[in-house]
Amino acid sequence: KKVVLAYSGGLDTSVILKWLQTTYGCEVVTFTADLGQGEELEPARRKAEQAGVREIFIEDLRETFVRDFVFPMFRANALYEGQYLLGTSIARPLIAQRQIEIAEMTGADAVAHGATGKGNDQVRFELAYYALKPDVKVIAPWRVWDLTSRTKLLAFAEAHQIPIAKDKRGEAPFSVDANLLHSSSEGKILEDPAVEPDESVFQRTISPEQAPDRPTVISIDFERGDPVAIDGTRMSPATLLTRLNALGRENGIGRLDLVENRFVGMKSRGVYETPGGTILLAAHRGIESITLDREAAHLKDQLMPRYAELIYNGFWFSPERRMLQALIDESQQSVTGQVRLKLYKGNVIVIGRESPHSLYSMKVVTFEEDEGAYDQVDAQGFIKLNALRLRLGAMAGRRGGTL
Ligand code: ARG
Ligand code: SIN
Repeated sequence: KKVVLAYSGGLDTSVILKWLQTTYGCEVVTFTADLGQGEELEPARRKAEQAGVREIFIEDLRETFVRDFVFPMFRANALYEGQYLLGTSIARPLIAQRQIEIAEMTGADAVAHGATGKGNDQVRFELAYYALKPDVKVIAPWRVWDLTSRTKLLAFAEAHQIPIAKDKRGEAPFSVDANLLHSSSEGKILEDPAVEPDESVFQRTISPEQAPDRPTVISIDFERGDPVAIDGTRMSPATLLTRLNALGRENGIGRLDLVENRFVGMKSRGVYETPGGTILLAAHRGIESITLDREAAHLKDQLMPRYAELIYNGFWFSPERRMLQALIDESQQSVTGQVRLKLYKGNVIVIGRESPHSLYSMKVVTFEEDEGAYDQVDAQGFIKLNALRLRLGAMAGRRGGTL
């Protein structure tokens, strides 16, 4: 028996590692991914070695994360409940996928994660595990063990010589999940949604108030719906998002304080920072505005909430997500061109867009003489026929659309 643990190297997953070894007497394989969370990974290797782990996997997945998960999602302009850019949600399927691949490679029959029994993340991890390896055994220690308080957890760590960083002795003030796309903070001091989050909660943006009084102007080039360059310089997906994060940070962009509906049924309050993603969303909508056909754009916008909900609820590896993705990807054929943006005190303002595939016709739209590009007389019949049923209704005594 062997289990692959999604291991951050932090106190909680170190306790889980030891707990798996002592409770099940099984061999534990650790998997630690760099998704751009901005933490050193080598300490995780040292700690795993100290715990007697023989197979330690530490991988830089930043490019894969952005290229194969973040960018495909941004092609859809996905927002959960109108606001959340899904920074945590989109990372889970990648972690789960690598865990399953590592399980296959090392001959493990089980996987384990450190998500609690109250949240979305357990659902996302496990739906992905089962979709990729239907017979896998899943261990979710938080749902089964009796280390239900901080005191018990620390006592367990002490009894098993798990090093506890000084700042970890006290309770962490809130729970954080971070990657290249976002940082999320929730729980504990943030639990009362009536209370404004303290400035110290924010980790990757300065406040709009602190941001410079002068705007930063940038350009982003898109090819088939994906950003490929900033200010004319081509960059890899992860490099590009890292650069956008820096620009967003300096200009106080991408903060969100949200009460959302978790899949398990409860409401929860989260404080999010998605600096680069917030710029990217505005820019992508900017380039789509001139390159997408109206009905293509509107259909996409109707499907977007469904697609976002799917990702939020953990159904990345599902037939319906793949169907929607195929439609979204197909729509992006002509989404190529350049957007210029002004970044200013928390705002992202599109100030220009151009494309070789633009559908925008100045010749048609102009308020000046249009040399026969559009015959205004046509509009009369267009309106008359659209009005016919309204007139018939009004003549039957149902004026103004009354039923
Ligand atoms: N509420 C967010 C989501 O469900 C983030 C969850 C993880 N965040 C955390 N701070 N533990 O996607
Ligand atoms: C957790 O419960 O592990 C984090 C919050 C969530 O998954 O929604």
